Amino acid sequence: MQSGVWALQPLADMTATEFRDWQTLLEERTGVVLNERRRAFLQTNLSARMRELGVAEYAAYYRQVTDGPRGAVEWSTLLDRLTVQETRFFRHRPSFDVLESYLSERLQQGMSQPWELWSVGCASGEEPYSLAISAAEVLREADTPDFYGVTGTDISLNALRKAREGDYTARRLELLDEELCQRYFVAQGEGHFKVVSTLAGRVCCARLNVMELAKAPMTGMDVIFCQNLLIYFRRWRRREILNHLAERLVPGGLLVVGVGEVAGWQHPELIPVADERVLAFTRKG
Ligand SMILES: C[S@@+](CC[C@H](N)C(=O)[O-])C[C@H]1O[C@@H](n2cnc3c(N)ncnc32)[C@H](O)[C@@H]1O
Repeated sequence: MQSGVWALQPLADMTATEFRDWQTLLEERTGVVLNERRRAFLQTNLSARMRELGVAEYAAYYRQVTDGPRGAVEWSTLLDRLTVQETRFFRHRPSFDVLESYLSERLQQGMSQPWELWSVGCASGEEPYSLAISAAEVLREADTPDFYGVTGTDISLNALRKAREGDYTARRLELLDEELCQRYFVAQGEGHFKVVSTLAGRVCCARLNVMELAKAPMTGMDVIFCQNLLIYFRRWRRREILNHLAERLVPGGLLVVGVGEVAGWQHPELIPVADERVLAFTRKG
């Protein structure tokens, strides 16, 4: 079906059934819901990938993507086109303010174990490195400056590859404090900056689908950040995921969620943080 002539022709619109099939597949596998308003987004991104492969029909491509292990490889490529991976350093500054005062307080209480921080849906690494910078800043004057570890997890292998590289253009660092840039990034030339090895060494990135949280090995987390991921999920699923995350916190641990991402959710073990700029909770104990 490979044809240079065909590649230039627009694909036909998706039928309602085809749209539903793709919608269901994406939601079943990732939790991400594409409503009717995002039909154009789905169609544009699917057809761009189909064009690259020389596949002319949505149904044929659907069969390819759902075809066992071979399909899984293609699915992983397609996933990057169908999920939003937008992120930036210290996105939503108030959440990081809350984190830093929380960590400072924890430091004053004394540390027996290194802090474990987790960025759920870490995209290309800006969030886990921001968490690492916050922890490193709080610990800078302490006797144990490296007494923390950050785990970043995401469903996208491509995003994780970028996160592990820890290499960003000057533009990505534009909003970052000058002093932090100098302390935690090294110029690579051609407008690129790499996370310093002392910080990168504290951050580990791994693939994890939040739909499979029950199987995830993460426990005993001091801090969990889950921002700008749940907005793509159904309400009941957001709550289910947050319930799982709450159970992964140590007593006294901090959970930070994107503002407005879950309305009216409560957990018997969690106490809301009294700061209206953020949506955050600490675990009792
Ligand atoms: C918009 S980014 C948010 C990045 C970062 N948390 C922030 O707030 O800037 C959402 C990320 O969630 C990831 N994602 C989507 N569905 C996922 C799933 N089921 N499991 C894990 N990660 C997922 C995407 O690949 C993407 O990198």
